[in-house]
Amino acid sequence: MFNVAIDGTTSSGKSTLAQNLSKVLGFKRLDTGAIYRGIACRFKRLRMRKVNDKNIAKLVKDISIIVSFKHGMQHVIVNGIDETDFLRSEEISLLTSEISPYKVVREKVLGIQRRFAAKYNCVMEGRDITTVVLPNADVKLFITASPEERARRRYLQFEGKKGAPTYEEVLKDLKMRDQRDSAREFGKLAIAEDAVVIDTTNKTLDDVTKICEEIVRSKMH
Ligand code: DC
Repeated sequence: MFNVAIDGTTSSGKSTLAQNLSKVLGFKRLDTGAIYRGIACRFKRLRMRKVNDKNIAKLVKDISIIVSFKHGMQHVIVNGIDETDFLRSEEISLLTSEISPYKVVREKVLGIQRRFAAKYNCVMEGRDITTVVLPNADVKLFITASPEERARRRYLQFEGKKGAPTYEEVLKDLKMRDQRDSAREFGKLAIAEDAVVIDTTNKTLDDVTKICEEIVRSKMH
């Protein structure tokens, strides 16, 4: 199978890029952040409060995660509940960044990701795909942009909505998540030696998609 691995900082545009790229290539796409988010939903459903070793062990012990696709959209089903509509709230975003560093959690997700890559030509996107999950991927991309630009993009998504944070709050939260993603022991965000780094600060999504498509096609031939 031909595997394109994409990692990158939060709000760098990697999810939309992965979506566009998978479309133009006719590949399947796996959003791995959504799987971690699904696990956080289960944590909440179990009414667990503290993220600690004991609760995480309990959480992972009898968890069942199924990733399926309906009309091309990825769904995450955890212990029989389709969590797809609940994955993107701020509460789940923050909870996920606390839960995802745990080794047992990462091990659970690892198998799902590797089986997917073995079965499909795919574009897989996350934080440790190029370094840990698919170290032999055919193409490795690392997507980033300046913190200010990423905060600006995220701020625009919230703008006009009730309880929307200020730009400064968004920037602060983003820097904290960058720090969490880069500082943890397992599956931390790092640039693989053989990854192509793409800074999207002054580029449109179309430009970035084209650049990445060319990189992939040149490898395929
Ligand atoms: O990409 P995202 O914002 O949906 O990711 C949600 C959280 O999951 C974020 O805190 C980082 C974490 N994550 C991870 O640890 N490893 C991945 N492969 C993907 C996401």
